[in-house]
Amino acid sequence: MRASTDPSVATAERYRAFAKVEARGMSVCYERWAAGVAADPATMALIDQLPAVKRQPNLVFSAARLHGAVVGEYPQFAAWLREHWSDVAATCLTHATQTNEPGRCAVLLPALAALAGPLAIIEVGASAGLCLHPDRYSYRYRLADGDERMLHPTDGPSPVVLDCAVTGPVPLPERMPKIVWRAGIDLHPLDVHSDADLAWLEALIWPEHDDRRSRLRAAVAVARQEPVQIVTGDLNDQIEALIARAPAEATVVVFHTAVLAYLNEPDRNRFAAQMTRLPVRWLSNEGQSVVPGVLERLAEAPALSSAFILALDGEPIALTQPHGRALHWLG
Ligand SMILES: C[S@@+](CC[C@H](N)C(=O)[O-])C[C@H]1O[C@@H](n2cnc3c(N)ncnc32)[C@H](O)[C@@H]1O
Repeated sequence: MRASTDPSVATAERYRAFAKVEARGMSVCYERWAAGVAADPATMALIDQLPAVKRQPNLVFSAARLHGAVVGEYPQFAAWLREHWSDVAATCLTHATQTNEPGRCAVLLPALAALAGPLAIIEVGASAGLCLHPDRYSYRYRLADGDERMLHPTDGPSPVVLDCAVTGPVPLPERMPKIVWRAGIDLHPLDVHSDADLAWLEALIWPEHDDRRSRLRAAVAVARQEPVQIVTGDLNDQIEALIARAPAEATVVVFHTAVLAYLNEPDRNRFAAQMTRLPVRWLSNEGQSVVPGVLERLAEAPALSSAFILALDGEPIALTQPHGRALHWLG
């Protein structure tokens, strides 16, 4: 678990770690806000009124932005937060960080397309289900030599174009995988038809990431046309029954991205054991030490500590940028 999300870590340390490890290079605003909070006892006293699990920077900042906190310097943010604390706290108590990033489909797609189809895909920790439509988006893969490879849905270009820089021997697909059935599981599925849920999904996107916000809106429009079922519940409890509902003739692929970090170690182990036992292919895209055994199977540790590892059936196959902006296929 990251220090910023670990309830056993002191608030100052959680915000300091978030500034240094997660926000640096990703969001100037959040780096400033988090470093500011870590050095500001009055603001930390407010945040410490929340249960420890709800004090995480990403949740507090997203709730603040939902209520109108303006991107900018820390002193203005601290003053704003004092004034609007009761609204922000109420949102923290009723919401969770459920960022849904359709851009992650760009790193999943080559692995999906290489599997024998037709496919039945199940996403655990699906949020609003925007990663359950990999065959309905267009892709622009940028190669190291400057060339580009486009891939479109079978019925033509999608309004959602996912950009991804690729390196290594990536098996870029010539055509979309055939997906005949799809479903998800989430503790608290978000609804693409709910304005409140969409406002929360937008607030979860970091301030400077305008491209991700417009992509989110476009992906929501795609998802609205083809609703998928997302079962409410814990992934460990629900997965076996959902797999049993998939069409018999399809290859069932269970996948997850940025999810297992929310589970404690026994639950991660339980999930990994289910993936080994059940008749599925298992595609994971998670932080480096999150999926049991995966990091240990890498020949060398990734240079970037923020990189995710994409693994098929527990074997690492690629390193990925956490929002799907880059894919490095392993040899
Ligand atoms: C950061 S979001 C990622 C959403 C999506 N996979 C993506 O990459 O865009 C993590 C999601 O996992 C869900 N989640 C966390 N723990 C879970 C569990 N034990 N069972 C089911 N869903 C869970 C959360 O509710 C949240 O929607």
